[in-house]
Amino acid sequence: MQWDAPFARWFVGGKLNASFNALDIHQKTKATKPAILWEGENEERRVLTYHDLWVQVNKFSNALKSLGVSKGDRVTIYLPMVPELIIAMHACARIGATHTVVFSGFSAKSLRDRIEDSKSKIIITADGSFRRGTVVKLKEVIDEAILGFDFVHHVVILERAKIPITMNPKDKKWNDLMMSAQENCEPEKLESTHPLYILYTSGTTGKPKGVLHGTGGYLTHLYSTFKWIFDIKDSDVYFCTADIGWVTGHSYVAYGPLLHGATQVMYEGAPDYPTPARMWEIIQRYKITTFYTTPTALRMFMKFGDGIPNSYDLSSLRLLGTVGEPINPEVWRWYFKIIGKEKCPIVDTWWQTETGGAILSPLPGLETITLKPGSATRPIPGLDVAVVDESGKEVPPETKGYLVIRNPWPGMLLTLWGDDEKYKSVYWSKYKNIYYPGDYAIKDKDGYFWLLGRADDVLKIAGHRLGTAELESGFVSHKSVAEAAVCGIPHEVKGESIIAFLVLREGFTPTESLKNEIINHIRKVIGPIATPDNLYFVSKLPKTRSGKIMRRLLKSMAKGEAIGDVSTLENEAAVNEVQAAFEELKLSLSKNLK
Ligand code: WTA
Repeated sequence: MQWDAPFARWFVGGKLNASFNALDIHQKTKATKPAILWEGENEERRVLTYHDLWVQVNKFSNALKSLGVSKGDRVTIYLPMVPELIIAMHACARIGATHTVVFSGFSAKSLRDRIEDSKSKIIITADGSFRRGTVVKLKEVIDEAILGFDFVHHVVILERAKIPITMNPKDKKWNDLMMSAQENCEPEKLESTHPLYILYTSGTTGKPKGVLHGTGGYLTHLYSTFKWIFDIKDSDVYFCTADIGWVTGHSYVAYGPLLHGATQVMYEGAPDYPTPARMWEIIQRYKITTFYTTPTALRMFMKFGDGIPNSYDLSSLRLLGTVGEPINPEVWRWYFKIIGKEKCPIVDTWWQTETGGAILSPLPGLETITLKPGSATRPIPGLDVAVVDESGKEVPPETKGYLVIRNPWPGMLLTLWGDDEKYKSVYWSKYKNIYYPGDYAIKDKDGYFWLLGRADDVLKIAGHRLGTAELESGFVSHKSVAEAAVCGIPHEVKGESIIAFLVLREGFTPTESLKNEIINHIRKVIGPIATPDNLYFVSKLPKTRSGKIMRRLLKSMAKGEAIGDVSTLENEAAVNEVQAAFEELKLSLSKNLK
């Protein structure tokens, strides 16, 4: 490692290729082994062996080359959970292009911002995708997102939903390209530090940040953590429910399992569609051994009742995992008992888009430790993780503080795309040369870590990461909204839900139809995951003397709690006014808007 704080570079001078390490290395020993057992929402099924995947990746690499893509170019991928998503990512990696996958639930506006920031030369998408039995028209979203972008040379369209589409001069069909593509594509020998991908994620300010990951360090982190955490064996059938549009899907679907030549199930649709038994049916059908999902999904399954999972054969399971948000101890126990039948360890993995791979987790493939329901246990080898106070001093055991990582690690982000200064200020300015993730935590007297949620203005809605600033500017972009404040409040299933407080512009009056119009607007500018659970119109937002919105106060009000410390508020009248407005609106607008 070269540590030029706060920039870490791994295996400098070494050369490799991610697609080679994931595919070529298995061709002698595992060519006929299934790499992907794919299941579509509408029960379509496909099996791709390691050889099939290798052939497809080689051909698509050549297809990209034929479109003029070369080393260092950015390629935006906006695809649903189909094998072609993994094929496209590995084809980029093979020729040294940097992929930037955008979750297919994001709107044209969110997508446009990301395409503009990365200056992607090529966009890869599908005509449509299936979600809860309906077709989502992805190609139309792309057409809107790239309007006027001359730097976009081509759009490649996979015919997934087989719906009619309008072809523009820049458009190419996936199948046509593949038909004329050569079979073999030599992988580029890339520097270990070569940027493998950009993945946009939400922070506390403005637009999403482009987290940039490298190759050698990142893959080392994935290879080792996949082995230690999931204790992967050649006979395993692994199933991670994360969408590749988020980091879990990058690290532990698209790359980690393939580095190990593992067999995995990939599923396209909603986890409870068409019935709440869908996941258990999949586990039974493919004899899944290793299941990795989110606390939100588990809370939902738990609500459906034990009878559903109990009527399926889940005996193939040997290891369970969770990621993305804190898991409530009672949900952990339910997972352990009802799904794992008290024989499967649960790996609660704490990490972030920025960390590349897991940082805190039990490691069944490496050691035996006693699990504690709700704790992500301890750091992976080599990491110095601590809980500190404002000044950076470690707090005594059982005391709440900020989680920090005190040394660099292989999967650490290289930087933020095109913005080294922001990278320094977001992660490395609170404490000198110490990485600040933005989470609250407690370390108990046995050295186990307990995660207590975000310490900043980042929300985790059903495990999806969204920034309040991003949501607020989304609301303000509606013609009627003058000011907006967003906060998250605890939600029984989603962990957290969005509550918005809006001040209307002169000439607009709060009505039910305006409320619906604003909700549709935010869904359109960000995506359906940004749908608020409640929206209140207020005449004024509570602010501190320095003009900062008192989110904590809004949060207490939205939760119906008494107001906490308001001493920093401008004046008593402001508190009274907002509280009165809130009480009044609570009466008239208390209906859940979902
Ligand atoms: C939260 C997801 C508690 C945390 C991989 C972190 C968790 C944020 C856990 C990163 C966990 C992730 N227990 N909280 N096991 N895993 N988080 O970038 O707040 O989407 O900072 O990465 O998710 O979210 P991101």
